[in-house]
Amino acid sequence: MTLRAWAPGRVNLLGDHTDYNGGLALPMTIGLGVEIRGDRGGDWIILGSEGKDGTAELPLVIQHPNRTEPPWARYVAGVVFEMLPAGGLTGTIRSTLPSGRGLSSSAALTVAVAAALGADLDDPEGVASLCQRAEHRAVGVPCGIMDPLCAVSAIPDHALRMDFGKQQLDSVRFPWDAEIAIVDSGQERVLESSAYAQRRAECEQAEKLIGPLRQANPKAATSIGDPTLSARALHVTTENLRVDDMVVALEDGDLQIAGELMLDSHASLRDDFEVSTPRLDALVEHLRLTDGVYGARMTGAGFGGCVIALCSPSADLSVPVVWRGRPSDRAHLE
Ligand code: GLA
Repeated sequence: MTLRAWAPGRVNLLGDHTDYNGGLALPMTIGLGVEIRGDRGGDWIILGSEGKDGTAELPLVIQHPNRTEPPWARYVAGVVFEMLPAGGLTGTIRSTLPSGRGLSSSAALTVAVAAALGADLDDPEGVASLCQRAEHRAVGVPCGIMDPLCAVSAIPDHALRMDFGKQQLDSVRFPWDAEIAIVDSGQERVLESSAYAQRRAECEQAEKLIGPLRQANPKAATSIGDPTLSARALHVTTENLRVDDMVVALEDGDLQIAGELMLDSHASLRDDFEVSTPRLDALVEHLRLTDGVYGARMTGAGFGGCVIALCSPSADLSVPVVWRGRPSDRAHLE
């Protein structure tokens, strides 16, 4: 019988570059994602892609997922390597999620593959950590667990407060009278993997000076002598505080405050974490000045990709929108 696996992308209302240092984040799933239709059986995994060239053709036991061709098939290979599935799968991948735009398309792909191969979606932490290891193994980006964990844990109409220090997830109701709009900057994230690893290393260096960033406060961050490390730590420590302020604002339905927190977060990503670009900044500024928009920020690792706006459902944004709506469903298998 033909199966259908689905995994969504995500945007972060707040909390970027906070997952890998045990901090707080507030992502939500979107209505774009990766779908796999296929049939289980046999000893091979054979997956074509509607949007990309080539076919992933893999045996059940793989030695070097990072050498798989075509390159997109490395994500499939990473999951197969980590999962050691009992049987094969033949099918087609279809994605409505643009890749390389900060919308977590790689996590959606790994989660959809894991679901199609029979991963236990009732064990969200297990599946997310498998997909995180798969991405490390496949492409060498030291990504955090946030993206796959959001894809397997979210519930409709709710954002997820993720506490990566306590391994705790809480659903936060998204206000009934608001929407998120995603606007693509059109800018490729060329620097992304090397700069991402560099930011990660800088956070580790800061932690050697002031202890875990999760426990540190902005005052401790500003006490660091090295200006770069100080600024990196300042972003993480202020963002952790903003996440909890945002949870209160969403619960109160206070969209003005929610929007201001997003603008503050963007400024922190731009000035302290230095992962924004002039084009992302200009888009955020355009959206900030648009009627019906409460706030806007870049989302994802940065260096290009998308910005999001928290807006009223009736707002006319006068820029092309990739997707617009409310938090959608988690990954599932039919
Ligand atoms: C990438 C990583 C995530 C997270 C974001 C930044 O998407 O995969 O783990 O660190 O960047 O928030």
